[in-house]
Amino acid sequence: MWERLRRLIEPPERLAIGLMSGTSADGIDAVLVRLHGHGSETRVETLAFHSNPYPDEIRDRIVAAYRGSVAEACSLNFELGGLLAEAALEVAQSGGVPIESVAFVASHGQTLYHIPRGERPARDAPFMPSTLQVGEGALIAQHTGILTITDFRTADMAAGGGGAPLVPLFDELVFRKPGVRRVVGNIGGIANVTFLGTEQNDGMAFDTGPGNALIDLLVRLAHSPHPFDKDGEMGARGEVNPALLARLMSSAYIELPPPKTTGRELFDIDMAKLIWAESGERPENAVAVATALTAATMSDQIRRFGGPVDELILSGGGVHNPTLMRMIRGRLPETRVVTTAEYGVDPDAKEAIAFAVIGNETLHGAPGNVPRATGARRPAILGKLSLP
Ligand SMILES: Nc1ncnc2c1ncn2[C@@H]1O[C@H](COP(=O)(O)OP(=O)(O)O)[C@@H](O)[C@H]1O
Ligand SMILES: [Mg+2]
Repeated sequence: MWERLRRLIEPPERLAIGLMSGTSADGIDAVLVRLHGHGSETRVETLAFHSNPYPDEIRDRIVAAYRGSVAEACSLNFELGGLLAEAALEVAQSGGVPIESVAFVASHGQTLYHIPRGERPARDAPFMPSTLQVGEGALIAQHTGILTITDFRTADMAAGGGGAPLVPLFDELVFRKPGVRRVVGNIGGIANVTFLGTEQNDGMAFDTGPGNALIDLLVRLAHSPHPFDKDGEMGARGEVNPALLARLMSSAYIELPPPKTTGRELFDIDMAKLIWAESGERPENAVAVATALTAATMSDQIRRFGGPVDELILSGGGVHNPTLMRMIRGRLPETRVVTTAEYGVDPDAKEAIAFAVIGNETLHGAPGNVPRATGARRPAILGKLSLP
C-alpha cells in the first residue's frame, strides 16, 4: 500500500481528476489537471473540464434529502458514486488521456447535511457539529480503477473546524498578490470569500450566506421552465423591496464574526416561502430580492470584516447571472469586480480544480485546511482513501 502511494507521488508531475458537486445540486463538475510539485510549489494546468447536469429526478431527491430518510441517504451515496465515476471517466476521455495514466481522483461529494459549530439548524435537527457528503469513494475507485480521495471536510471538523471553506488553500496559492487587497469569492449554492491582503482579517475565509440556492428555490416556486434564473432575466425585471431586504439582512448569521460556515439548511425553503409570500407572490420581485440578498450579504460582509478591497475575483455559477453581478458591483463601487477567468482559472471549474490540489496535498501527507479559515485547532490532512 505505502509502496503504491509512493509511486504516485514520486514523479515531479501527475495527472489528477477533481470532482465537485456543490450545494446547488445542479450536477457534477469534473476537471482533469496536470499538477506539478506540491505545497507552495504547486503549479496546476487545466487539461479538460466538463459539467454533467444531474437528471431532474436525482436533483429533486438531493434537494429533498436533508429532510429525508436514512435509506434515501444510503441509496444516494451509491447512486451518486456511480455518477461521479462516470464523470471522471468522461473527463479523462475528453482530455484525451487513458484513465490509467491518472494518479488519483479527488471527489468532494454531494453535501446532504452540514451542521456547523454551535448551531442548531432546524427545530427537529440533531446538533453535534458534523457534515455528510455522499458519493461513495469505493464505487468511484472500482469503476475507474483509480485511487480515490473523498470526504475532505470531516478531518477538519474532527480537528474542531467548521469543515468549510476548504478552497482558501488554493486561493492563497493562486491569487495572493503582495500589496493588493483582494477578495476571492465563489458563488455556488452558498457563497464564500477568502480575504487576501485586506486591512482586517487577512487570510480569513468564510461563507457569506446564500449564493444561488435561494434564487433557485424561488425560481422553482414560480414554476419557471428553467431550474434557475437564466441570465438573471427574472431578477432584472423585478423590484427589490427595501424593507424586506433589510429584514432578511438582519439574520443572526450575517452579524456573526468569521470564521463561520453555513449550509442550505439556514437559507432554505422556509426563507424562500417567506420571501415569496412577502413579495405578493410576484415571481420577479421575489427573485429580485433573493438576488439582492446574495449581493448584499457578500458585499456588506466584505466591507465589514475586510475593509476596503481593490479587487473581488469571483467564480461559481453566480458569475453567469448578470443581475447578481450588477448588484454586487453597485454595492462595491470602489472595487474592481472580475471573474477568475481573468487569471486563467475557469470560474465553473475552480472548485473542482481546488479539490484536485487539496487531494495532492493529502497524498503528500500535508494538511489541506487553513485553520484560520475553518476555525480548526490545527492543520489536518484531509480525506479518506479508497483503493481500486
Ligand atoms: N446562465 C446562468 N444564469 C443565471 N444563473 C446561472 C447560470 N448558470 C448557472 N447559474 C447559477 O449557478 C448555479 C450553479 O452554480 P455552481 O457554482 O455549480 O454551484 P454549486 O457549487 O453549489 O453546485 C445554478 O444553480 C444557477 O443558480
Ligand atoms: Mg454545481
